[in-house]
Amino acid sequence: MIWESNVSLAPYNTFGIDAKAERLVHLETEADVAHYAQHPEGLRQQRLLLGGGSNMLLCADVPGTTARIAWKGRKVIRETEDHVWLEVAAGESWHETVRFCVGKDWSGLQNLSLIPGLVGAAPVQNIGAYGVELSDSFDCLRFFDWENGEIHPMDAVDCGFSYRDSVFKNRLKGQGVILSVTFRLTKRNHTFQTTYGAIQEELSSRGLQPSVESISDAVMAIRQSKLPDPKVLGNSGSFFKNPALPSAQVSALAQRYPEIPQYPQANGTVKVAAGWLIEQAGWKGKRVGNVGMHARQALVLVNYGGASGPEIWAYAQHVQASVSELFGIDLEAEVNLIG
Ligand code: EPU
Repeated sequence: MIWESNVSLAPYNTFGIDAKAERLVHLETEADVAHYAQHPEGLRQQRLLLGGGSNMLLCADVPGTTARIAWKGRKVIRETEDHVWLEVAAGESWHETVRFCVGKDWSGLQNLSLIPGLVGAAPVQNIGAYGVELSDSFDCLRFFDWENGEIHPMDAVDCGFSYRDSVFKNRLKGQGVILSVTFRLTKRNHTFQTTYGAIQEELSSRGLQPSVESISDAVMAIRQSKLPDPKVLGNSGSFFKNPALPSAQVSALAQRYPEIPQYPQANGTVKVAAGWLIEQAGWKGKRVGNVGMHARQALVLVNYGGASGPEIWAYAQHVQASVSELFGIDLEAEVNLIG
């Protein structure tokens, strides 16, 4: 367990915002987590629990203690002829874990290649891309309860997964930390999801059949062509959620805008593409100071360098106001605002 004081959080958030933590503690083992929970300057003074920093906007310096999830490890805990159960520590990189599975020809996670962040954060918002969500390959996780130091096993039902949502954003918010996640992956007789986005086109243009590796490579190529690399241009992926609306509202909109991208949901609502709404409202590629919606994907807000959290949030609110005025739709931030 390493402690630092008055340290910049710029290396620890993908927007690259230079907010300071009064105290930063790196939790490097599960035992550190238990010690931290008891330490007088630990949990009791915690203001921020930091994963990969890929889905948050730091709007101010962080007083008190910031704890960084840094424990690692992957192990196979069960195996049959068809499946393998892989337990992965919360501090492992998501993308490196996906590529580890791709290297073994285990399917399940390949559509989720190149998503930034750590494994422990993935269940919190049930990360998803290209027609697949984490919940599709999820088996269980271990949750450390801050209140009593107990470790609870939780299955998918306990986690309450839905679109970009789980119990960890609601009832269990701030109540503990995910220690590890176990995935159930497929070793043979794979089934692939290639209908979403440009995966099939990408495979055809390369003359490839769907496989764990070819799909992962295709997803990486598609993401790299549209989404800015946070190491080059600060961003946190989609800044807003795709709004789910009553179908009558979407039908009325579609009469005015027949080309509006729409995705009917199992619960009867219809999701519309926030990137399209933002583009129609004129924000795609529009830079104000150090901030702008990306020129190739209007749902991604980028920091061109040196933007502060409040500057980014002010810009985002202008985008929300325009979309609301034009379409009567209130966009909700996907990123977490801190401070
Ligand atoms: N669109 C536009 N203009 C834009 C951007 C998008 O018209 O500037 C249209 C596209 O043409 C398409 C539709 O909107 O018809 C959807 O676009 P895209 O396939 O790029 O996906 P998205 O809905 O904007 C979601 C996820 C992404 C994920 C992609 C691919 C959310 C909030 N975002 O974006 O996740 O990578 O699908 O599956 O659900 C993230 O959460 O950080 C993220 C990047």
